[in-house]
Amino acid sequence: MLVLGIETSCDETGVALYCNQRGLLAHRLYSQIDMHAQYGGVVPELASRDHIRKTLPLIQQTLKDCGHTLQQLEGIAYTAGPGLMGALMVGACLAKSLAAALEIPTLGIHHMEGHLLAPLLEDEQPECPFVALLVSGGHTQLINVKAIGQYELLGESLDDAAGEAFDKAAKMMGLPYPGGPTLAKLAEQGQPGRYQFPRPMVDRPGLDFSFSGLKTYTRNTIEAARIQAGDLPLDLQTKADISLAFEQAVVSTLSIKCKRALEQTQCKRLIIAGGVSANRALREALKQMTKQLNAKVYYAKPEFCTDNGAMIALTGALRMQAGQIDQGPLSLRPRWPMEQLPAL
Ligand code: KG4
Ligand code: ZN
Repeated sequence: MLVLGIETSCDETGVALYCNQRGLLAHRLYSQIDMHAQYGGVVPELASRDHIRKTLPLIQQTLKDCGHTLQQLEGIAYTAGPGLMGALMVGACLAKSLAAALEIPTLGIHHMEGHLLAPLLEDEQPECPFVALLVSGGHTQLINVKAIGQYELLGESLDDAAGEAFDKAAKMMGLPYPGGPTLAKLAEQGQPGRYQFPRPMVDRPGLDFSFSGLKTYTRNTIEAARIQAGDLPLDLQTKADISLAFEQAVVSTLSIKCKRALEQTQCKRLIIAGGVSANRALREALKQMTKQLNAKVYYAKPEFCTDNGAMIALTGALRMQAGQIDQGPLSLRPRWPMEQLPAL
């Protein structure tokens, strides 16, 4: 089955073509980062308008890349939530109109299920059951994946998501938007041991997370360093040292909880997905941790960790192949618990 995937839930326009038999055929991404950077964060109305400008040309280019035509499409998958309502509407309306003209079915996809299944785009794929750590700008969740479509929430962040914490810590140090990858890059030059940050909630039982305390700790550390420097802006090395201490705190907190989840479920497979799963320190820490448990960690290529069309096309192809298609009027879900998804 040849499925077109459209992702427009936030600030990236992603388009891809996926075939159940031949795998990913082509994908393109347009990032709005430069446009939002001047505002220090995503401006929803600007995001919607830019998706309107970019989605159709991206579809045309993606089809051309792999020598296919619109008439060959057998289904269209689009992100139906969670995300920014206006941005979701652009992708959904385009998908619905194209599909009506082509007389093919559509399916609204859960953005986080897309992230969760992105490691299936790789050659070495995890088999179910597995534990999934979803770490993005809006979500931090541990999920017991019994089968595709059967998701049991094991724990989640009670406040900020991991990516959000990275972005806020970066902003406090005056690093450019989006802060997460910039902070991670700077952390590579950090001097270990100069700062020691707390690991939130690791001494409490359970699998929930909380990153807001770490945010306050970061703010206080920056403030103290500034005072020590005689009220001058922080020098680059201090920023790098704080970045490293912050990253280590987030990474080891995530790693401790993943270990606990693997032990609790007696599962030997862990997948990590979502923007923060592109983080090198996190990948390395989870590799070490799973090795100790005789388990294995799986993740997607960095370009498929952050938002992209390939994960939506893949998820759409899997579900549509199983006969699932949109029924009734357009339904978008800015908030949407993954446990409500139907089994495959
Ligand atoms: O999955 P994603 O692209 O969008 C959402 O669905 O939210 O995730 C974006 C988040 C941002 O918070 C970004 O700062 C973070 O992922 N991120 C990273 C890295 N790359 C992206 N955080 C830490 N280290 C990275 N290398
Ligand atoms: Zn995402």
